[in-house]
Amino acid sequence: MSPPLVEVSAISRTYAMRSGMFGRAAAVHAVDGVSLTIARGQTLGLVGESGSGKSTTGRIVLGLEPPDSGEVRFDGKPMAAPGTTAWRAQRARMQMIFQDPLGALDRRLPVAAQIREPLDIHDIGTPAVREERVRELLRAVELTPAHGARYPGALSGGQRQRIVLARALATKPDFLVCDEPVSALDVSIQAQVVNLLCDLQAQLSLTLLFISHDLRVVRQISNVVAVMYLGRIVEIGSADDLFARPEHPYTQALVSASPAPGRRSAGRIVLSGDPPNPAARPAGCAFHPRCPSAIARCKSEVPALETVGGDRQVACHLVTGAATRDAA
Ligand SMILES: Nc1ncnc2c1ncn2[C@@H]1O[C@H](COP(=O)(O)OP(=O)(O)OP(=O)(O)O)[C@@H](O)[C@H]1O
Ligand SMILES: [Mg+2]
Repeated sequence: MSPPLVEVSAISRTYAMRSGMFGRAAAVHAVDGVSLTIARGQTLGLVGESGSGKSTTGRIVLGLEPPDSGEVRFDGKPMAAPGTTAWRAQRARMQMIFQDPLGALDRRLPVAAQIREPLDIHDIGTPAVREERVRELLRAVELTPAHGARYPGALSGGQRQRIVLARALATKPDFLVCDEPVSALDVSIQAQVVNLLCDLQAQLSLTLLFISHDLRVVRQISNVVAVMYLGRIVEIGSADDLFARPEHPYTQALVSASPAPGRRSAGRIVLSGDPPNPAARPAGCAFHPRCPSAIARCKSEVPALETVGGDRQVACHLVTGAATRDAA
């Protein structure tokens, strides 16, 4: 059997941050021992509040920055060293889409030229083949050659994100990291772009890491969902099951704070208690100061991510402690 397309083993990344009046250095554990696998053709949704380490995880998975420890394997192989031929070949198979399409595009160039850029960089096809591929990509994202002749400033936000998507698909990648790809768009446009992404994923058998703070969007597109809190995964499992029966008190709070399908998004998730501070992560379970059910053990001991049945894993003394008791 072929290995999962993406295998992330215990990656960690710490940043030094100066804070306070005397500029004391604090260590920010942006990502702390994160392990994930993404099977071919599947979408893994990564959710969590601001600062939980979602984007840092995405950058490490793409090889845009190295982890302090841990490893990422792509298609069964470790990430190649940057700048090598093997790295270029690997990079052509993985692409990214970020929140701000205008920032990702060059305002001075017609968008068709920007869709063609990866084909030029990777020297794919003759000029005529490239032109045809650009037309095909514009059609794939439901735009026309006329849109291709325009500059980014003359397109709507949703159209710009379609252009970014077309460019990301130019080299026929297997894997896309989408970091808040629709968060900057109007709610009505968000659904169109997410639907397009779902359709393209199915047609092209793409594997996706989909990062978002919007649970509704994540639920729509993901097969598996991982929930992050201050650098660690606290729960992971099949999307429908996880949203229907969240086990971790944090996931439960997220799910209950998320508007029901069809309702307008309230924007960023707001939970009660002190917002998480990555520079001063609480000892034990980092969620314990906000947890309605915390017990003494939660303040001192970091809960391990443990399987609690099926493909669900939870890092919570209350949940895994209960599972152990049940089994005993
Ligand atoms: N290059 C960097 N230098 C210093 N600190 C960083 C750097 N990148 C991220 N951090 C810190 O690491 C933590 C995690 O950041 P990250 O951007 O991964 O969070 P996130 O979950 O993507 O948040 P958001 O939802 O706001 O995008 C934050 O505390 C952030 O300030
Ligand atoms: Mg982010």
